[in-house]
Amino acid sequence: MSKRKVNDAPLPVGTCISEVQDILRKRLCHQQLPDTPEGVQAQHKHLLELLKRTAVHGESNSVLIVGPRGSGKTMLLKCVLRDLLEEKEVERNLLQVHLNGLLQTDDRIALQEMTRQLHLENVVGDKVFGSFAENLSFLLEALKKGDRSSSRPVLFVLDEFDLFAHHKNQTLLYNLFDVSQSAQAPVAVVGVTCRLDVLELLEKRVKSRFSHRQIHLLSNPTFSQYLERVQTQLSLQDDFPDKTFAQDWNASVKTLCEDKSVEDALQRHYNSSKNFRSNHMLLMLCLSRVSVANPAIKPADLLEASKMCLIDAQANMLHGLSILELCLIIAMKHLNDVYEGEPFNLQMVHNEFKKFLQRKSNSMYNFEQPVIMKAFEHLQQLEMIRPVDSSSVKTQREYQLMRLMLDNTQVMEALQKYPQCPTDIKQWAMSAYG
Ligand SMILES: Nc1ncnc2c1ncn2[C@@H]1O[C@H](COP(=O)(O)OP(=O)(O)OP(=O)(O)O)[C@@H](O)[C@H]1O
Ligand SMILES: [Mg+2]
Repeated sequence: MSKRKVNDAPLPVGTCISEVQDILRKRLCHQQLPDTPEGVQAQHKHLLELLKRTAVHGESNSVLIVGPRGSGKTMLLKCVLRDLLEEKEVERNLLQVHLNGLLQTDDRIALQEMTRQLHLENVVGDKVFGSFAENLSFLLEALKKGDRSSSRPVLFVLDEFDLFAHHKNQTLLYNLFDVSQSAQAPVAVVGVTCRLDVLELLEKRVKSRFSHRQIHLLSNPTFSQYLERVQTQLSLQDDFPDKTFAQDWNASVKTLCEDKSVEDALQRHYNSSKNFRSNHMLLMLCLSRVSVANPAIKPADLLEASKMCLIDAQANMLHGLSILELCLIIAMKHLNDVYEGEPFNLQMVHNEFKKFLQRKSNSMYNFEQPVIMKAFEHLQQLEMIRPVDSSSVKTQREYQLMRLMLDNTQVMEALQKYPQCPTDIKQWAMSAYG
């Protein structure tokens, strides 16, 4: 970085670094929409055309955007809306109502929020409506233009769409889809959800009013595409104020991505999740290690960041267990060793624990049966153990088949870090069965 050409009007390294951090943070922290969302061009085009039909031509429509968490559903919708609103006419006319299943937990709240977002509180006043449908059509009627000949197009976005299906009688969904099918007013209903089976949740009368248009975001990049994406996400573009710095930075990013240990770490991330969100999380942690003293991302930075991302939440939870609960986990680990992962019941675990106690002369760990059952219950609540077959509730609790949801290395690693773990218990955990 020191060999910068003089005629390039170089900026101080500090300025460059804060500029880099600014640009990349915006890119990685959802603040900035990408100009063209990568890998979803077809979906972008499809959705834009659909919404144009409502916004420009006054046609009604309904569509679902379906994809796993972090796959870019919200981002796609935002990009499409940004591009849609570029047309002056649309910007002047289109009304938007954004609802979220996590916030509007019943239809009454949702209706209030719709009224608020459409600025119709004063028009509605304290009128009382007989039904949801009446109320909705009143709202849509109130939106008609001055000459009352045409309505303004309304876009309804229902984020966490599947949650609306749990509202009583699915009234809101029924009415919105009903309007989107009738000529009452031009409305577009866009549902956003991560449930692929979302249609199964809809009542028949609701389902039949839905257009059955779905846009799927199920991109599944190959590892080399994933690597390439990391490189693009970290690279600076030509408009960076200091050209030489940008070149050096991009070269260092390239070297980083070609490093073998980095590639291995990225492969691990790729295997566990391929979406942009977790990828951005990792890169953000790398970026936070960049400073004037460390003006490029080095392999060690990425490895450290990767470690932080992969901290095992389940193993961490083991540290919060009581000694009794920990002992039960160890007993289960031994059973797992013996029966090679076959499920066990709680009685077997208890027996295993008793064997350990018998070998010891002190009675420090003698617990009554109900206390032990309580400990099992807690482990189940923490999802560390799970019944094999939840339908066999009739079996007595002690004999219900269970599985341990941790593997041996997780147990052993957690044990090493368990605060003040008694030595005899550690030894028992490490001992072979018997
Ligand atoms: N194609 C893409 N190009 C660039 N960034 C993307 C892309 N897809 C997603 N992202 C980024 O990934 C992150 C997660 O995306 P987003 O919030 O849209 O996911 P989502 O599908 O709405 O998830 P959720 O179901 O949790 O709401 C955002 O920071 C977004 O900017
Ligand atoms: Mg979202």
